[in-house]
Amino acid sequence: MDIRSLLDGLLELTFVGSFTRVGFVVRRILFGWNTPADGSMTGKTVLITGPTSGLGRATADALASAGARLILVGRSEERLARVRDELVAEHGEDRFRIVVADMGLLDSVRAAVATILEEEPRLDVLVDNAGAIFPDRRETADGIEATLATMVVGPFVLIDGLRPLLERTGGARVIAITSGGMYWQTLPLDDLDYEEGPFSGPRAYARAKRAQTALMREWARRLAAVGSDLTINAMHPGWSDTPGLAETLPAFYRLMGPVLRSPAEGADTIVWLATDPRAGGLSGGLFLDRRPRPFDRAPLTRLSAADRRRLWDLVVERTGAADPLPDRVHQLDGPG
Ligand SMILES: NC(=O)c1ccc[n+]([C@@H]2O[C@H](COP(=O)([O-])OP(=O)(O)OC[C@H]3O[C@@H](n4cnc5c(N)ncnc54)[C@H](OP(=O)(O)O)[C@@H]3O)[C@@H](O)[C@H]2O)c1
Repeated sequence: MDIRSLLDGLLELTFVGSFTRVGFVVRRILFGWNTPADGSMTGKTVLITGPTSGLGRATADALASAGARLILVGRSEERLARVRDELVAEHGEDRFRIVVADMGLLDSVRAAVATILEEEPRLDVLVDNAGAIFPDRRETADGIEATLATMVVGPFVLIDGLRPLLERTGGARVIAITSGGMYWQTLPLDDLDYEEGPFSGPRAYARAKRAQTALMREWARRLAAVGSDLTINAMHPGWSDTPGLAETLPAFYRLMGPVLRSPAEGADTIVWLATDPRAGGLSGGLFLDRRPRPFDRAPLTRLSAADRRRLWDLVVERTGAADPLPDRVHQLDGPG
């Protein structure tokens, strides 16, 4: 192991050092990161959910600077239009399209998919970024707990629906934004909709992020099994100074304020996974600061390969649609 990887690994063990701005700055210096060259994404189309704020907004900016055409997906037409206008003003041309969809409502996601499939000739990158913490338990019109619907089932329908376009484009990449908070939560597969016990928004969020990350592994495995060249990875952004963090975890936000990453720093690995040639063939990983990271920190929170297959089935069941990639190769998994 080289000295840089050793230092990176030590930083990762500290959690706080790794998740804050310290981790970002140290690793940027250690590994001499570049930003994507202007124009390097020209001719490519990137879809971003939740581009109106925080990390999604920073991702939109960086990818627009690299020349990408953007499909901005969000639930408020007004907020999306404001972002599009800002991007047009910043980048001097209109290659930004808005599509309204609430990621927690399956009909809304399906309508967005239908529009995109009908009107877009290509899709190179899909950034599954939209996310939220809900203060109280509520169910969506589909009867799914809202956190699970917004960050797990809705994105599943989006990825599944857009898969034909992504695969037709060739070499396409899906990037899911998860959270380091998932490290401290188990995922009770018998209670995915959080019907048991007192509801906690942050716990529901961490469970949904664990489910989202596990599903990305499962997508990657099943896509590889059918010979698809579509790659899927999860990343977590550490702790970043965004409106979402400030609103939903105000005490934590105040405590960590000076060492939080900027939105652009938090979004750096999203941009790297979307643009860097070296990230092209990677699939089924979890990344922080441009490097693969472990899926688990504590044995008790670990989801086995069988758990991940079961999770897939439970999510498919909630979509009310047929399984898009029935499992035919689970005997090849090994014990992991
Ligand atoms: N900030 C951090 O430290 C941190 C750490 C770990 C993970 N993350 C993850 O990073 C992602 C971005 O978070 P952020 O911190 O940038 O939060 P943010 O500032 O609150 O932005 C969240 C974005 O998601 C959109 N969104 C929320 N619910 C939606 C729905 N039902 N349908 C469509 N769009 C929806 C919001 O759109 P509206 O304008 O409509 O509200 C907004 O654009 C999330 O997945 C979050 O869990 C963030």
